[in-house]
Amino acid sequence: MNAPSAIAKLNVLVRSVTYLAKDIFSFEFVDPTGQALPGFTAGSHIDVHLPGGLIRQYSLCNDQDETHRYVVAVLREPNGRGGSMAMIEAVRPGTTVTISTPRSNFKLAPGAKRHVFLAGGIGITPIMSMIAAVQAQKQDFHLYYCSRSAERTAFLDVLNPLIAKGLATVHHDGGDPAKSLDLKSVLREQQPGSHLYYCGPNGMLNAAEAASEHWAEGTRHCERFSAGSAAALVPNESDRPFEITLAKTGKNFTVPADRSIVQVLKANGIIVDTSCEEGYCGTCMTRYLDGEPLHRDSVLDEEDREEFMMVCCSRAKSARITLDL
Ligand code: FES
Repeated sequence: MNAPSAIAKLNVLVRSVTYLAKDIFSFEFVDPTGQALPGFTAGSHIDVHLPGGLIRQYSLCNDQDETHRYVVAVLREPNGRGGSMAMIEAVRPGTTVTISTPRSNFKLAPGAKRHVFLAGGIGITPIMSMIAAVQAQKQDFHLYYCSRSAERTAFLDVLNPLIAKGLATVHHDGGDPAKSLDLKSVLREQQPGSHLYYCGPNGMLNAAEAASEHWAEGTRHCERFSAGSAAALVPNESDRPFEITLAKTGKNFTVPADRSIVQVLKANGIIVDTSCEEGYCGTCMTRYLDGEPLHRDSVLDEEDREEFMMVCCSRAKSARITLDL
């Protein structure tokens, strides 16, 4: 039995697959009947349900004003966890795939006077939609985009005019960390009202975080494609067992200290969609109705946490927690 998820799903038609750069492809999804798709804000991502039961998150890289399509870009990673290979090998134009509606943990700050974007490799994808939004709103911005080489740099056709106007800087390091962009000097000064948005490999994100430590609180916004430092939170030796109640069936289960809620549910034939299982993708978001969660995700904000929890990694502070399943 598949448990109902707090995340809505829809079926979309793959309208096109396009080669963007070496090992990078974009996928364009449209409604099969030509209807408008649910709206999204720049920086949002969707879950894509892939053949073989994999679920992966991809940021939307198109303009938030487009309602007729979603576009994602995928890096071919032969040594990855299988998602990108399944996407590139199995998702073909004319086929239908199930996706989630867009959701966002990475948003443009409404009051920002200037936006500084920092992208590493495929981390450019959410930033492309943000750039389209700030350009439409005639806001001040600058993009720093790091990649290995020109042939591995997606969206250069769109970015070249920005480079020519001095609004974007592309930096190639040839894969040598010693030739990385000097983030300390790029981020040394925070202009008044400026916000920083960064997305890319963990090494770059950690370096950006350290180099911008002195930026004002609430002005740094990060999108991670892996758990990064959050991974250290799960599991924890001090974890204790607790009880869960499923509100829709009244079933009760014990979650032992060394198992997660999703593992216990799965062992009892109840499948909750998961992807990262480390609390950063949001796929397993589940509403709770009673009890006090011990949140261990890196996705939900305080307001969301009053209603939802990530059942792949979060536990309960209370002896029992009731889930809306
Ligand atoms: S599966 Fe990714 S947050 Fe739970």
